[in-house]
Amino acid sequence: MKVLLIGEGAREHVLAESLGNSSESYRVYALSSYINPGIMEVVRKTGGEYLRGNVSSQEDVREAIRTVGPDFGVVGPEDPLFHGVADEFRKEGLPVIGPSKTCSQIEKSKVWMRELMWKYQIDGRLRFRAFTSLEEASKFIMEYGGSVAVKPSEQVGGKGVKVVADLQAYLSKEKRSALSRSVDEIGSLVKSEVKIIIEEKVDGPEYTLHVLTDGYSYLPLPLAQDYKHAYQDGIGPETGGMGSISGPGNLLPFITREEYEKTFEIVKRTAESISKETGDTYRGFISGQMMLTELWGPTVIEFYSRMGDPETSAIIPRISSDFGRILQLAAEGRLAKAMLEVVPEPAVVWAVAPLGYPLRRDLASGKEFQLDLERMREKGCKVYFGSIAYEGGKLISKGSRALELVSIGDFEESSRRLESCVKLINSNTELIYRTDIGRGIWEQQDKAEIVRYSYLNRVKRGTLGVSKDWSPNGGLW
Ligand code: GLY
Repeated sequence: MKVLLIGEGAREHVLAESLGNSSESYRVYALSSYINPGIMEVVRKTGGEYLRGNVSSQEDVREAIRTVGPDFGVVGPEDPLFHGVADEFRKEGLPVIGPSKTCSQIEKSKVWMRELMWKYQIDGRLRFRAFTSLEEASKFIMEYGGSVAVKPSEQVGGKGVKVVADLQAYLSKEKRSALSRSVDEIGSLVKSEVKIIIEEKVDGPEYTLHVLTDGYSYLPLPLAQDYKHAYQDGIGPETGGMGSISGPGNLLPFITREEYEKTFEIVKRTAESISKETGDTYRGFISGQMMLTELWGPTVIEFYSRMGDPETSAIIPRISSDFGRILQLAAEGRLAKAMLEVVPEPAVVWAVAPLGYPLRRDLASGKEFQLDLERMREKGCKVYFGSIAYEGGKLISKGSRALELVSIGDFEESSRRLESCVKLINSNTELIYRTDIGRGIWEQQDKAEIVRYSYLNRVKRGTLGVSKDWSPNGGLW
């Protein structure tokens, strides 16, 4: 059987590996804008073919479908989904992993997502206001007394543009003015009419639940946590994720079984509501990017219409059943037959990027990498290739996170193992990576305990999800 994989990053390398290792002996074909060496290895090993093209172009994907004649498809990244690439497979009558363009609005438009959650009264929703006028948004910020998060109304410029600023009620007028000025900058990034979304600001440990659905059955994967900030101890600009953890089992050390189940219910209800709202069945991955808050317990920050990267590298390598076959079953509407088995040990992922990422991708591009893959594997590290291409016999960076190193085992032991593996990477530039990922987990446990105490009290008092904040204007939402 032939499978056509769309995408070129580390997430797609992981997906390609699981397809290549399947007992179904798939021939893996790929369409990418550059040659990812990891995907290349799988394509070669399975007797497929590597096609070059624009993964977000319907035309290029149609052409690839015609050339390959696949039995099913897997679409990895969000941008092709926003451009209707999964629809191209379905138009040809082919099963595919990935929601339609209409359904992927759950990720593309934060306003659509929040409106849906309120319309269908899905738990974990936050109060929000959407603004077409930047002036009105600034006025709201200047007048509102509570804490807010200001975001572009839709996904712009790829990953890492999320919360642009936040504000505490007690902070100075100067900070409030600075924030209201940032509205212009954020608004200028957005093409649609609605420019800005302002949400009530919440705090707590973050985590992600990925759910695979064929529209009938829902398969929750083990939880993961993404480390978003560029530098050690969570400082610096937001990135697509500098690493991740998953486990032990299906949980994280700071999330309980009840919270996992509640989160699953929220994500499943959201997928069902999207299908109802659009008349188009949601199929593929839907991932809840969550925060444990005192307001709700599990609370939705945003949704992905695909798997997260680098969350995928922490999750799929821990799956001991045949994940390639699970993808096929989901694409074909037979997910009820899937059996998911996961190793109990956790996983830690460190992403490695050239200096310059994420703000100066020009500086992070075109750098040469050399890896001692054999020794890394001997030490127990898996290596996934991300934003790095095989060009003229060399490994050349493309400006984002070039590699993801994965270790499965106890958190501390994995961090030590990754530390020794990362030293086996050489480059003609300085590399950035975070050695704190997988360490100090107890700090997150402490944070979660405080939040848990508060939200469980709300459960007792019947005030879960009821926001009350001080506002000089008596509430402007
Ligand atoms: N790790 C965040 C993302 O995949 O967007």
